Amino acid sequence: MEKRKIGVGFLGLGTVGSGVLEILQMNREQVTRRAGAEIEVRKILVRDPHKKRAVNVNNDLYTSDADEVLDHPEIDVVVEVMGGVDEAKKYVKKALQNKKYVITANKDLMATSGAELMLLAGEYERNIYYEASVGGGIPLIRPLKHSLSGNRISRIIGIINGTTNYILSKMSLENMDFETALAEAQEKGFAEQDPSNDLEGKDAGYKLCILAGLAFNSRVNYEDLYVDGINGIDKRDIAYARELGFTLKLLAIGEEIDGALAPRVHPALVPSTHPLAGVLFENNALYVTGNAVGEVMFFGPGAGALPTGSSIVADLLDVAHEMRCQEEGSVMELHFQDKTIISMDKLHSAFFLRLQAKDQPGVFASLATTFGNENVSLDMIIQKSSTEGQAEIVLVTHEVEEKNFNRAVDKIRDFSYVRRINSIFRVIKT
Ligand code: NAP
Ligand code: HSE
Repeated sequence: MEKRKIGVGFLGLGTVGSGVLEILQMNREQVTRRAGAEIEVRKILVRDPHKKRAVNVNNDLYTSDADEVLDHPEIDVVVEVMGGVDEAKKYVKKALQNKKYVITANKDLMATSGAELMLLAGEYERNIYYEASVGGGIPLIRPLKHSLSGNRISRIIGIINGTTNYILSKMSLENMDFETALAEAQEKGFAEQDPSNDLEGKDAGYKLCILAGLAFNSRVNYEDLYVDGINGIDKRDIAYARELGFTLKLLAIGEEIDGALAPRVHPALVPSTHPLAGVLFENNALYVTGNAVGEVMFFGPGAGALPTGSSIVADLLDVAHEMRCQEEGSVMELHFQDKTIISMDKLHSAFFLRLQAKDQPGVFASLATTFGNENVSLDMIIQKSSTEGQAEIVLVTHEVEEKNFNRAVDKIRDFSYVRRINSIFRVIKT
C-alpha cells in the first residue's frame, strides 16, 4: 500500500528553516514512522531563490511568491520561519483560511497576534503550533499545555533570552565589562547586530506573554508587562552580588496571586545555589512551580538551527497525529480567560541597593532608620570601600512591599550625605 503523504510548505529557509530540513533528512526514517506518513516538502518561499543555502534542496521548490505556498493544493502544513510580524501575519492568516495547519517559530507574531490567529484557526478547524517560539530546542509549550496540565501553576521563572544570559555569564565568571561581553556575543553569533530588543528585555517579554498565557490559562499582552532590561549593568554589582552569594540574571517572571497575574521581566539576583544560577551563557531555562508537581526546571539551548528545528519537527509530528485522528478544531488557547494584572508596587520583593555616600558618622544609622520608618527591614548592610571621604555602601533588604521600598529610596536620594544611588535590583530568595 502506498504510504500516506503530508505536504509541507516553508515560509523562509534561513537558520531555522535549514535546521528543520537537515533534521528531516538526517532522521527521515524515524520521522516517517512516527508521523505514519512521508513528510514531503512541496514549496519554499524565500526572498532570493538563487542564494546558496546551508541545505541541499531541489531548485524547483524555491519561489519568491508566497501564494505558491499558501494556495498550493497539496500543502497541508505551512511552516513559518521567516520572522517579522506584518507579512508573516498576513501569510499565516491566509494559510489558515486555506485550511492549512501552521507551525511557527515566531515569538513576536505569537505574542502580538496569537489570540487573533488562534481564533481564526478555530474558525477554520485548524491549529497553530509554536513550540519553537520560546526556548529554541527546549520543550516548554508542550509541557505547559499537556504534561503539567494537572497542576495549578503558581509561578514560572524563565531565563529565556540567550544574548543577555551570555553577557551576564561572561561578566560574572570572567569579570568582563558589559561592552566587551556584548561584542563577544555578537562575534559568536548569539547576539544580533542590533541587539536592542534583547538588551531592553523586549524579546524576553514577548516570550513571557506566550508562556504566561499557557501557564495561567490567560491572555497576557505585552502592554500588561513591567519590562526592564540589562543595558548599562555595572560589573561591580555582579561582583558584589557574587560575594554576597547571589547571581544576577535577566528573569521573566509570571505569577498568579489570588487569581490575578504579575508578569514582569527585569534583572534580579538569585541565590548562587538556585538551579537558575547555574544556567550559563546562551542556554535558557524555565523554572515552574505547580501545586502537584512541586518545582521542575526545563533547561537547554534557547536558539540555533538544529535545536530550534528539533522543536519544529516535533510540531510536525503533532500535526501528523492531529490529521490522523481528525481532531481538527481543538484549539486550547480559545479557552483562555482575561485576568487582572497586579501593579508592581503591590508586589513583595527583597532588594539589593548600592549607593555612594560621604564617609561620616551616622550614615548607616540614618539609612537603617529611614528604611525602618517605611517598614523595610534590612538583611545586610556593608561598606565596600572608602576613598577620598566617599564610601560605597551595599545593602540587601528582607522581602518588603515594593512601594515601601521605593518610598524609602526617594527619601534617601535627597539626603545631603548621599552622592548617588548607583543601582537597585530585586532579589528572588526562593
Ligand atoms: P533568518 O535566518 O533571517 O531566515 C529568514 C528566512 O526567511 C530567509 O530564508 C529569508 O529569505 C526568508 N524571508 C524573510 N522575509 C521574507 C519575505 N518577506 N519574503 C520571502 N522570504 C522572506 O531567520 P531565522 O533565524 O531562521 O529565524 C526565523 C524565525 O525563527 C524568526 O521568527 C525567529 O525569531 C525565530 N527563531 C529563531 C531562532 C534562531 O536560533 N535563529 C530561534 C528561535 C526562534 P532569504 O534567505 O532569501 O533572505
Ligand atoms: N535573540 C534571541 C535570544 C534568539 O538571544 O535568546 C532566540 O529567540
